[in-house]
Order: sequence, then structure tokens, then C-alpha cells
Amino acid sequence: MSETAKLNIQGSEVELPLVIGTEQEVGIDIAALRASTKAVTLDVGYKNTGSTTSAITFLDGEQGILRHRGYSIEELADKADFLEVAYLLINGELPTKETYTQWDDDIRHHTLVNGDIENIFNAWPTGSHPMGQLIAMISSLSSFYPESLNPNLGDDARDRTIRRLLAKMPTICAMIHKKRSGHPIIYPKNNLNYVENYLNMTFKNVTEDYDLDPVVVNAMNKLLILHADHEQNCSASTVRLVGSSHANLYASISAGIAALWGPLHGGANQKVIEMLEAIKADGGNAKKYLDKAKDKNDPFRLMGFGHRVYKNFDPRAKIIKKSADDVLNKLGVNDPTLEIAKQLEEAALSDPYFIERKLFPNVDFYSGIIYRAMGFPVEMFTVLFALGRLPGWISQWKEMMEHRQPIGRPRQIYTGPVQRPFINLEDR
Ligand code: CMC
Repeated sequence: MSETAKLNIQGSEVELPLVIGTEQEVGIDIAALRASTKAVTLDVGYKNTGSTTSAITFLDGEQGILRHRGYSIEELADKADFLEVAYLLINGELPTKETYTQWDDDIRHHTLVNGDIENIFNAWPTGSHPMGQLIAMISSLSSFYPESLNPNLGDDARDRTIRRLLAKMPTICAMIHKKRSGHPIIYPKNNLNYVENYLNMTFKNVTEDYDLDPVVVNAMNKLLILHADHEQNCSASTVRLVGSSHANLYASISAGIAALWGPLHGGANQKVIEMLEAIKADGGNAKKYLDKAKDKNDPFRLMGFGHRVYKNFDPRAKIIKKSADDVLNKLGVNDPTLEIAKQLEEAALSDPYFIERKLFPNVDFYSGIIYRAMGFPVEMFTVLFALGRLPGWISQWKEMMEHRQPIGRPRQIYTGPVQRPFINLEDR
């Protein structure tokens, strides 16, 4: 097979090298295209553009395959611990027992945040959206750890910044929840593991004991793993792009959180529950909402449906759907929106509009139902996505820095006016 692609542009032929991945994906390396032909590629929304080579996550959207560093998402969700997956993503291999103990211990001992961070919360208007707060709080960590401002200080400094961020993220997420509820914050307890500590800081009340429920701990662990990375999605690409200017890790991750907030990305998990509630309040008529989603004059979209890369099924959604039944049963929660979600899914999957466009439930379709059964308010759902995605963002940033990737700076095709003379204000 030829290892080059031939392109004919306005009568002249150029030969471009192919880059072939370990899973035989083929890319055309167009780095030299503009220099030799003056042409650039145009791909609005990057629907067909590989922005990097990466050894972190493999995704085959046609077959519904998702693997991190070669391990299937099904196995990781079933057998691993979230911090183990975080280590795998960031360092490339599963930790040995010894390295895991060290990793876990290091993270447990960085969970506390500077007392001044609590003061920042006083500035937020009551009830403001948690994602707006999270963006600012994560970025503010750079002020408390000035060493992080230079991401080129060497491996030790970089790894310290990474561990700090992983350790403080659950503390900050839980603080946001407590402050929004008007309750005193609960400090981390370092004898608890990552997931337990987060749940304890979120759900424990200062005036009462809180017993961790293993059903909730296991479900949370699984949900975090299912969100841990998803290769070059909108937020990961944002983290890489911002980081490529050598902005510090906290700023880069904060930008990723901002990208995640949008309802077409991670913000969809909040919108799904709001949509299911609206359908319930409207008499549970799923068909009416399917028709709205199909109507090109109506901006409504079926939230939690469709995906840029999955064109068969989203393997994460499969696991979550099963988990939703399991968790609600075990917790004895009867949520009518689960029934509506199932009806909506069934109706959509047999509707030609959704079949032709290969639209399936994605990771956000059922996750909110589980979060709500666990006791999280709807506004916190996207924060939970961010908490899970953090190791993925970190690994993408670290790989980008290790590859010494140049600053990200796409080209464009200009379509505005050609040069014209300036007319003085009085003459216009
Ligand atoms: N409801 C109704 N129609 C849809 C939907 C939907 N949810 N998603 C896509 N379509 C239609 C779209 O109108 C288009 O139709 P046509 O070809 O007639 O113009 C066709 O399907 C292709 O859609 P697209 O918008 O070109 O696809 P995209 O790859 O640009 O967008 C998406 C992907 C996820 C943004 C989109 O499917 C969507 O808006 N879904 C709802 C929001 C959502 O659930 N987002 C979470 C994504 S998964 C979590 C994550 O990783 O972010």
C-alpha cells in the first residue's frame, strides 16, 4: 500500500505522507501543503481533522469501541478504581501496588485548600451556577501555587502541580455545593479514599454523622471512570490549545471546564434532566418532543442524543443505562423520568430521522438520573462530569507538553471585503 496520498491542486500534483496509527487509522500529513501549494485545508468544526497523534485513548465510533491506553472502558469501569485510571491516563501504564499506594497517599495529602480560597466564595451571588464558580476556582489555584505559572520547570514541579490539582478538585467541587446550599463546608478526611472523601465532603452535614453507602461509592467510582477521557473532544482540544501557548496547567484546565459547560458538550447532562422534567410536566408525551427535535424550524434538540464520533452506539451510555436501573433499585428510588427516558430512547431508535442520522443516546442521557438518585442537585451535574474528566484533560496537556507541540494556531479562508479606501466620517 502506498504510504503517500496524491493531491491535484489547480493542475499541479503534490504527494503527502501518510501517518498510520497502531489501530491502522490513516491520516494525511498536510504540514507541508501550504508551503508547496499555497492551499490550506478547510474543515469547519474539525469534523475530519486530526489535531495530534496521541497514545492515550482509542475510539472507534463505528464499532462503539473506547479504550484507554489499550484497556477497554468496559473492563476499566468494572474492575478499576478511579485513581488507578487517572494514573493510567496520566502515566501510560497501570500502577503497580507500590506505585499506586504512593500515588494515592500523595493525593490524599494534598486535599486541603488554602483558607483564602474560602474567602473567594463570599463574592459569588447566591445560587450562581456551579460551573462558573468552578472555572474561576481552578484558575485561582495558579495564584496560590506560583510555581505552576511556568509549566517548563521540570518533571518534579509539573508532577506536583498535577497531584495538587487532582487532590484539590473534589474539595473545591464539594465546597461549591456546600456554599450554594448555604451550609458550612466539610473539610477533607484523608483516611477516606478519593471517591469516599468527595461524597463525604458533599453529603455530610456538620451537625450529623454521614454513613457512606457502598452502592453510592461504587456508582460514583464507575461514573467518574466513564467520563475520564474521550480523546480530542471540545474540552480536551481546548486544554491542549490553551496549554500550547504555555499557559499554566490550572489556566488550561479552567479553559477546558469552560468548554465543557456548553449544552452541546458536558452541559448536556443538566439539560437532559430538564428536558425529561419538561416532558413529564407536559403529560409524558415523548412523541411530541421527538417531533420537535425533528422539526428544522424548532431549535429544540433531543438532549443526550447524538455524538460527533459515535455512529453506532456510545459504549459509555450502555454501561450507564444498566447502572441506572441497578442504582435506583438498590437505593429504592422510583424516578418517573427514568421511564420517560426509556420510552424516548425506544421511540427515537425506531424513528427513521434518528436511524438515518445514526443518533443514539450518549453518556449524558442516563447519567443525570443516577446523579439525582444519589442526591446531587441538577446544577451540579456538569461539575461531576468535570471531576471525572480531569485526569483525561491532564493527560492530554501532559502529552502535548512532552511532544513539544507548537502553539495551536489554525488558518482560515478569508471571505470579507477586499482592500478598499477609507472614507472619512464626515463623508459617509
Ligand atoms: N436531536 C435532533 N437532531 C439531532 C441531534 C439531536 N440531539 N443531534 C444531531 N441531530 C441532527 C442534526 O440536526 C443534523 O441533521 P441534518 O443532517 O438534517 O442537518 C444531523 O443530526 C447531524 O448533526 P450535527 O449537529 O451535524 O452533528 P455534530 O457532530 O455536529 O453534533 C452533537 C454532535 C453531540 C453536538 C449533537 O448530536 C447534539 O447537539 N446533541 C445534543 C447535545 C448532547 O447530547 N451533547 C452531549 C454529547 S456527548 C457528551 C460529550 O462528550 O460532550
